[in-house]
Amino acid sequence: MIAAASENNALGKNNELVWHLPNDFKRFKNLTSGHHIIMGRKTFESFPKPLPNRTHIVISRQEDYNPEGCLVVSSMEKALEICPKDETSFIIGGGEIYKLGMPFSDKIELTVVHHNFEADAFFPEINIEEWEITSSEFQSKDEKHLFDYTYQTYSRK
Ligand SMILES: NC(=O)c1ccc[n+]([C@@H]2O[C@H](COP(=O)([O-])OP(=O)(O)OC[C@H]3O[C@@H](n4cnc5c(N)ncnc54)[C@H](OP(=O)(O)O)[C@@H]3O)[C@@H](O)[C@H]2O)c1
Repeated sequence: MIAAASENNALGKNNELVWHLPNDFKRFKNLTSGHHIIMGRKTFESFPKPLPNRTHIVISRQEDYNPEGCLVVSSMEKALEICPKDETSFIIGGGEIYKLGMPFSDKIELTVVHHNFEADAFFPEINIEEWEITSSEFQSKDEKHLFDYTYQTYSRK
């Protein structure tokens, strides 16, 4: 999974992100480009258009949902069946889909934004009995980044 969440686990509000961290966007692009990305219907609709150079798998309960530029499936299991077994695929959100994806994941690339935000979508609790932090890189705020943030990698124990 790959996500950015605040200290209070906020992911977004009104189907938008609530911060702008250009370097985190670049990291997301670098890590996910060329791979399959799994997302919920709401996250897909939060993009102005599909993200270049990635295979989009969108999870929805709507049988007639079929927007251009993506594969639509009705469950996380079906999404994972489509993903190539010999390379990394990414679950990219949002809150409902991270919750569904947690038991299937072996790594979480989590950007922790050091602030509290009002939100209506949240990252699920990470159970520290099952997960350990294997890398942590603090990034200071600057003129382009209003908040401090940390790139944390969690690996399944
Ligand atoms: N900070 C980050 O890293 C990050 C990443 C991604 C998204 N976001 C933010 O997160 C928010 C969106 O998250 P969200 O939790 O509201 O929505 P979401 O997880 O993106 O999508 C929810 C939709 O997924 C489908 N779905 C959920 N559970 C399902 C199941 N068991 N079986 C089949 N389909 C299922 C449903 O689609 P249908 O209604 O079509 O049935 C549901 O409405 C936005 O604010 C977005 O900007 C933040």
